[in-house]
Amino acid sequence: MRFPPSFLDEIRNRVPVSAVVGKRVRLKKQGREMAGLSPFTKEKTPSFFVNDDKRFYHCFSSGKHGDIFTFLMEVEGLSFPEAVERLAGEAGLQMPKADPQAEARERERAGLYEIMEMAAAFFEAQLADRAGSNARAYLDKRGLSPQTIRDFRIGYAPSDRRALKQALASEGVSSEQMAEAGLIITGEDISVPFDRFRDRVIFPIADARGRTIAFGGRALQADQPAKYLNSPETPLFHKGETLFNISGARKAAHDTGTIHVVEGYMDVIAMSEGGFANTVAPLGTALTENQLGLLWRMADEPVLCFDGDSAGLRAAWRAAEIALPFLKPGKSLRFALMPEGQDPDDVLRSQGRDALAQLLGTTRSLVDIVWTMAVESQPHDTPERRAALEARLSGLVRAVGDESVRRHYGDEIARRTRELFGGAPAGRQAGVQRGNRNYGAGRGNAFQTPGRLASVGASDSLKRSALVTGARDMGRREVVILLTLINHPVLIADYAEELSDTVVSHPDLERLRGALVDAAADGAAADAAGLRESLGARGLGAVLERIDSLWLARADWFAGPDAADVDAESGLKHMLALHRKINTLHRNLEIAQADYERDISEANEARVFAILAELEKAEGTEAQVEGFGAQSGRPVRSF
Ligand code: UTP
Ligand code: MN
Repeated sequence: MRFPPSFLDEIRNRVPVSAVVGKRVRLKKQGREMAGLSPFTKEKTPSFFVNDDKRFYHCFSSGKHGDIFTFLMEVEGLSFPEAVERLAGEAGLQMPKADPQAEARERERAGLYEIMEMAAAFFEAQLADRAGSNARAYLDKRGLSPQTIRDFRIGYAPSDRRALKQALASEGVSSEQMAEAGLIITGEDISVPFDRFRDRVIFPIADARGRTIAFGGRALQADQPAKYLNSPETPLFHKGETLFNISGARKAAHDTGTIHVVEGYMDVIAMSEGGFANTVAPLGTALTENQLGLLWRMADEPVLCFDGDSAGLRAAWRAAEIALPFLKPGKSLRFALMPEGQDPDDVLRSQGRDALAQLLGTTRSLVDIVWTMAVESQPHDTPERRAALEARLSGLVRAVGDESVRRHYGDEIARRTRELFGGAPAGRQAGVQRGNRNYGAGRGNAFQTPGRLASVGASDSLKRSALVTGARDMGRREVVILLTLINHPVLIADYAEELSDTVVSHPDLERLRGALVDAAADGAAADAAGLRESLGARGLGAVLERIDSLWLARADWFAGPDAADVDAESGLKHMLALHRKINTLHRNLEIAQADYERDISEANEARVFAILAELEKAEGTEAQVEGFGAQSGRPVRSF
């Protein structure tokens, strides 16, 4: 169940962090905080701080940061609800009564799993039936064995527009449920809803527990608008949060210690047939932070397989850039490049298992891909061009979120740069190794002593940096959030509450936000045109014009009027979460900077750096917002 935020806050108010932490860690008062030995690492000097006023702890040796709930989860392995229950007890608070709406949603989800299972069984049966003969011939031509077809539960959706709908209806499934499960196409201008998947080979997409949560369908005819069609986002399926074959690949990944990531359904299936069961694919989107997390749970260095052609290399480059902010000590990616124009399926069919095994065994490191792409994409034959390349490389190093990984990237890139530029004396690659935004280049670096910040005037230099000022100017996220709602008013009612809590810094946007909340309340937000009219009538026409003209970023396409509502909603959710996170970090940064100015200690400096690193990471994920879009007819390719 979801706990009301006010309830959680009440517990936080009543139970000091030091009381919870103090049972595990001996704490000593140090200034306005308390310090002790980290419970997360073995250390001899205290780098674990607790701040009761601010209700958090921060561990500089492990980078962990959290509140009373996360502490119990981390240290005692409690689940979140268990931690809440325990601390509610300590706070003398009654647990809130279960929320019937949330429970209804849970039941609804349970029902959806059943429906997806019925649909999967239907498609399987159709493939085996008369209707499936073309599909069977197709799969046979592509070399899939009957065993593979069973293992992956491959099926067939007949051409008849009502085949699945009628089959499900006869089992008592309502049209609403079918629509909720993403199995039928409905809409205001569609009088009779019809099957989403027609005349397609069906690949069920299962969650980590093996339950079917979505389908991918491959067209059998060449003239179809989409070669592959996926289920839309549903309560069960969020395509950026899952990987095709995750349930099948998990055990094999565990046994072999490695996992392969390929682009398509057929590649996963071919790899499995070829003996590489430890293979997954994202679902037609750029790799997301979430998917990286899933991969890293299965293996430290997932191997991404790409075409050796230029599109494949670009995709590899893109995946590399996406991963940089999320790298952790020991957690990286490797890259296996297939021969030009071939995917793993093609390689297996044309050259056999051994050739594929050899390609998969010859991988390149992430730093190597990053380096090669940067160096090969721009000339460096003049001092100016070398400087430009250096700046580019420096930007890539800064994109690495983790402090110690970033430092090692800096070292490695600096070393390669020296070699490339013909042995310039060590330390000349200042832009790479220690550009002035290279926060937290690491302990042991002469630049990292408290004296450094003091000597350049800490808060001044920090405030001048593009990182901080860029984020203070919060226009972009606010504009995108409001614009998404204006262009997709169906979302306003659901997000009105969250909208009222959203920090909006500009007075005009503030007025607009208020008007949107009102519009939702008095029903003026039925459609975009009507809403715009009513906003105009409130004297907000000029503001509207301005934010329309501000909205230029390609990454924020979901805010536009042409995006499908589901895509707008995913984009909006992401943007709201990011906005909240970045605002909190900015608040914490101000506090930390003020503390540092009062007391120039290493601990206070480290805190400033830790927050800056978090901010950099959070802002790095902004690029992720462009991860979806098939619903809007937006061409998307994997990675
Ligand atoms: P490819 O076009 O490379 O197809 O798309 P493929 O996997 O090699 O498929 P075959 O071998 O022609 O059958 C790679 C992946 O991109 C997504 C799918 O996930 C696909 O497996 N995709 C592709 C879509 O979502 N929609 C499309 O229209 C095309
Ligand atoms: Mn293929």
